[in-house]
Amino acid sequence: MKAVVLYFSHGGNTRAAARRIADIVGARQFEAVPAQAYPADYKQLVARVLAQVKAGEHPPLIQMPDLADCDVLFAGSPNWCGAIAPPLATALSGADLSGKTVAPFFTHGGGGTGNMLQSLQAVCPGARILPALSLKGSGTDGEVTAWLQELGLQ
Ligand SMILES: Cc1cc2nc3c(=O)[nH]c(=O)nc-3n(C[C@H](O)[C@H](O)[C@H](O)COP(=O)(O)O)c2cc1C
Repeated sequence: MKAVVLYFSHGGNTRAAARRIADIVGARQFEAVPAQAYPADYKQLVARVLAQVKAGEHPPLIQMPDLADCDVLFAGSPNWCGAIAPPLATALSGADLSGKTVAPFFTHGGGGTGNMLQSLQAVCPGARILPALSLKGSGTDGEVTAWLQELGLQ
């Protein structure tokens, strides 16, 4: 299988999970980096994210991923106000994912995954979406391995 691990991470948890997945399945990684950095101040960050999520905004990235030759796309995001992070939505919505398989992995701060799956589905029309991995913080090797085995991807 040709796999790519595409993710957004602000604090490092989702990046750590992405690295675990990429190491195990032998996939290349692509980090979605927004062209405009998010505010360092937490209150301002939450306000910006909430506004983007409510507006369904897809902020520009410094580079878009090339997903043309991949058949399995691991797509990772932190839970940002109940949705996938807007930069991941930008990366996914800019690609034609019809006929591809998307394996979502989500990290959260204790609140679970909220509406993350719905917000991911909305930007992956035509893709086959596998059951998502939900990790508190960066999760553990065991959680990642068990999920990959369950999906038959390891
Ligand atoms: C702007 C913002 C909004 C968040 N919203 C939620 C939330 O609604 N529910 C939740 O459980 N965690 C929430 N979190 C916590 C993150 O989902 C969690 O810390 C995640 O693992 C961070 O991933 P990262 O280190 O890859 O950025 C939020 C964090 C931030 C910065």
